[in-house]
Amino acid sequence: MVAETVLRKTQLIHPLFIQEGNKLKTEISSMPDFFRFSPDLILKEIEESLKLGIQNFILFPQIEEKLKDKKATLSYKKNNLYLKMIQSMKKEFPDATIITDVAMDPYSSDGHDGFVENGKILNDESLVILGKMALAQAESGADILGPSDMMDGRVGYIRDILDKNGFSDVAIMSYTAKYASSFYGPFRDALGSAPKAGDKKTYQMDPRNAKEALLEAELDFQEGADYLMVKPALAYLDIIQSIKQNFPIPVVAYNVSGEYAMIKAAARLGWLDESKAMVESLIAIKRAGADIIITYFAKDFAKLNLT
Ligand code: PBG
Repeated sequence: MVAETVLRKTQLIHPLFIQEGNKLKTEISSMPDFFRFSPDLILKEIEESLKLGIQNFILFPQIEEKLKDKKATLSYKKNNLYLKMIQSMKKEFPDATIITDVAMDPYSSDGHDGFVENGKILNDESLVILGKMALAQAESGADILGPSDMMDGRVGYIRDILDKNGFSDVAIMSYTAKYASSFYGPFRDALGSAPKAGDKKTYQMDPRNAKEALLEAELDFQEGADYLMVKPALAYLDIIQSIKQNFPIPVVAYNVSGEYAMIKAAARLGWLDESKAMVESLIAIKRAGADIIITYFAKDFAKLNLT
C-alpha cells in the first residue's frame, strides 16, 4: 500500500540478438540463459514475450566478419539481415514496439561505432553513414531509432533526415550519457563487435564525469531527442536521477550485459538469490528515475507477475 516505486512490464524493453540462418538458437557464453536467434526463431521469441506482457524490443545484429568493411556499408544495404528482420516483425506483430540500434560497430571491420582513419574516429564523416543507416531503418518500419554511437550532433542530423523523408513520426531514443564501460564486455562477445584496436573513450563518456552528462542531455534534447538514455544503469544511478530531474522527456536506463552477467554468475555459484537480486536492481533503477528499462531480465521479470 505504501510502496513508492512501481515497475510495470510495459516499461521494459527486451533486447534481441539476431544471427543469419535458420532454426538457430545460440546461448551467449558470458550471458547464461540469453540467446542469439536466427530470424525465424526471433519471431517465436517475440510471440512468447508478447504473451508474457513484454511488448517493446530493441534489435542488435551479429554480422559475419567477411561482410564487414571500414564504412559499415552493409548497415544501409537494402534487405540486409537487420532490415529484413524489422520488416517481418512489423508485418507479424504490428503492435510490438520496434527500437533499432544506430551505430557502425556490428558492421565495421574496425569494430568502432564511427568511421576510423589513421587510428582516429572521424565524427562528421560518421554522421553521413549513420544518417543512411537511420533512414534505411525508418523505411523498413522501425518505430523508434536508437543511436548508440555517441558521435556529436547525430540526433539533430538524423532528425533532419527523417523529417525530410516523411518520417516525422519515427522517434529517437538517444543514448545520451553512454559511458566507456567495462560492463559491455558480454554484449561484445554476443555480437563479435569489440574494437579491433584502441578503445571507445574518445566518444563514450568518462565514468568520472557527471556534469558532462547534463551537457550531453541538453544537446540531445535541443536536437530533438524523444527519449534520453543512461547506460550502464546500476553504477550510474546518480546520472539517471539528475537527468530525470532536469529534463521533461522520458528517461531510459540500459541495464547492460555485464550487469546481467554479474547476477547470473553469482547466482550460479550459489552466492546470490538470482530472482531477488534481479528485482531489487530493476526497482533501484526505476526508483532513481528511469521511466523505461532495457534489460536482459525482461522476460524473467514478467514471469514473476509482481504487482
Ligand atoms: C554499441 C553498443 C554497445 C552496447 C549497445 N550498443 C557496446 C559498446 O558500446 O561497445 C552494449 C549493451 C550491453 O552491454 O548490454 N553500439
